[in-house]
Amino acid sequence: MNNLWTQLEAHREATRERSILSLFDDAGRFEAFSVESDGMLLDFSKTAIDGAALELLLGLAEQAGVVDKRDAMFRGDLINSTEGRAVLHTVLRAPEDAGPLLVEGEEVRADVAETLHRMERFAEEVRSGRLTATDGAPFSDVVNIGIGGSDLGPVMATLALGPYHDGPRCHFISNVDGADVAETLRPLDPRRTLVIVASKTFTTIETMTNAETALTWLRTALGAKAGAHLAAVSSAMERTSEMGIAPERVFGFADWVGGRYSLWGPVGLPIMLAVGGARFREFLAGGHAMDRHFCTAPLAGNMPVLLALTGIWHRNVCGYPTRAVLPYDQRLARLPAYLQQLDMESNGKRVSVGGKAVARATGPVVWGEPGTNGQHAFYQLLHQGTEVVPAEFLIAAEGHEPGLGQHHALLKANCLAQSEALMIGRSFEEAMALAATLGFDGAEREAQAAHRTFPGNRPSVTLAYPKLTPFTLGQIIALYEHRVFVEGAIWGINSFDQWGVELGKELATKLLPMVTSGSGAGKDGSTAGLISALSRKV
Ligand code: F6P
Repeated sequence: MNNLWTQLEAHREATRERSILSLFDDAGRFEAFSVESDGMLLDFSKTAIDGAALELLLGLAEQAGVVDKRDAMFRGDLINSTEGRAVLHTVLRAPEDAGPLLVEGEEVRADVAETLHRMERFAEEVRSGRLTATDGAPFSDVVNIGIGGSDLGPVMATLALGPYHDGPRCHFISNVDGADVAETLRPLDPRRTLVIVASKTFTTIETMTNAETALTWLRTALGAKAGAHLAAVSSAMERTSEMGIAPERVFGFADWVGGRYSLWGPVGLPIMLAVGGARFREFLAGGHAMDRHFCTAPLAGNMPVLLALTGIWHRNVCGYPTRAVLPYDQRLARLPAYLQQLDMESNGKRVSVGGKAVARATGPVVWGEPGTNGQHAFYQLLHQGTEVVPAEFLIAAEGHEPGLGQHHALLKANCLAQSEALMIGRSFEEAMALAATLGFDGAEREAQAAHRTFPGNRPSVTLAYPKLTPFTLGQIIALYEHRVFVEGAIWGINSFDQWGVELGKELATKLLPMVTSGSGAGKDGSTAGLISALSRKV
């Protein structure tokens, strides 16, 4: 393993000065450094990875046992070692007739299918208006209360699938900041609103606090009938009854579905309410199609593996600390936030599965915004800043607004222009010629040219898909899930726990009474000083 890393580093050193653009002297580069799966194309030819680098990277994947680890995941082995759990969100999107699957001796597929059917029946009843609000009228609005994995997936996917919405309007409350619940509920009518409380553990303080506030809102309008406007999604079924939610309104899932991987099951209920059961199944089918590809394609033609290897190359071999996700798709506006949790909660780890300090950098900082908006905000740094940020572009061949003239062509042109500009840059000589045409001469011309020079040679990958349909969205999300998995497998970490979120939760619990009393006695000077400052009334 070490030998491969050393060879990769040596190869990078030897080719550091070579431009990415020069790699296209090979007329077959695009074909050789791109991969297709069920209509989706991943182009990684605009990176510095060449044939030799790819071979070494694939060697890393082999030596890390990616194939065995992948098979162990799909088989239901307890690969989430610190929590002693299997990792089987893939079962949620597998065909119902895929045959029995045993997890710790228990068959799980039948339960998953039964819950999906219950969700569909419930969603259809709400959407059709057969299941009414307490006054006999249909529900017009759904409010999902959850946070992290119980929020980001449904938020991201309902926005992404806007063109398919034909159900009640969906709203989301996540932040414990009262502003979130207040602003979200203000325009809504409790007599027309269904509230879903979504929490895997049903203990998360933000969700429980927001749920109590929403319950009060419902009870004020509906009295004892408020329960008819409630549903719950959780792995902790017993806790949902304490909130007075009827069992037939509770949709459960097993603890082998991680929070950030949970939108494929009951956590996806708001998506299903918005677009209907058939569209939701298309979304599942897209995810499953990517699973099939991941499980069957050879490593060298395997999209999640290749995307992961670009990640390893940029993070470990080139040493780039962040990566930008840039969807040229306004409806994927929340994808970067979704991927932040997926990637950073999964791979933001500093010890190996065995508990030893990792030998190399692990998960990068993931960030981004949709294009073209980002172009007018942070792309300046991408093009001319001192940090190199590998960019990941997403773009559809076809938009959902074909009647709107040039919009989609402009979107595509901008997306391609950015990856091209990052790669080709503009040399000082070219900038000097430009400065001359602008009327500058002498020292001023040189200074102006320096400001107009782009170093170029900045890497990007592009994910191109036919159209943002439920199926395509499923493919995209499953692709990123498996990418995170493969990177984690190569780093030798557990991508499925999240102990790093615990300390802050514990301290917040201890700080609550101090914040309430305004006294931080016993705390460090900064925390005590801030408690005091924050207890001042305006
Ligand atoms: O704080 C992190 C986390 O545990 C995430 O992993 C999870 O998605 C989120 O909180 C919400 O948890 P729950 O669904 O149990 O409320």
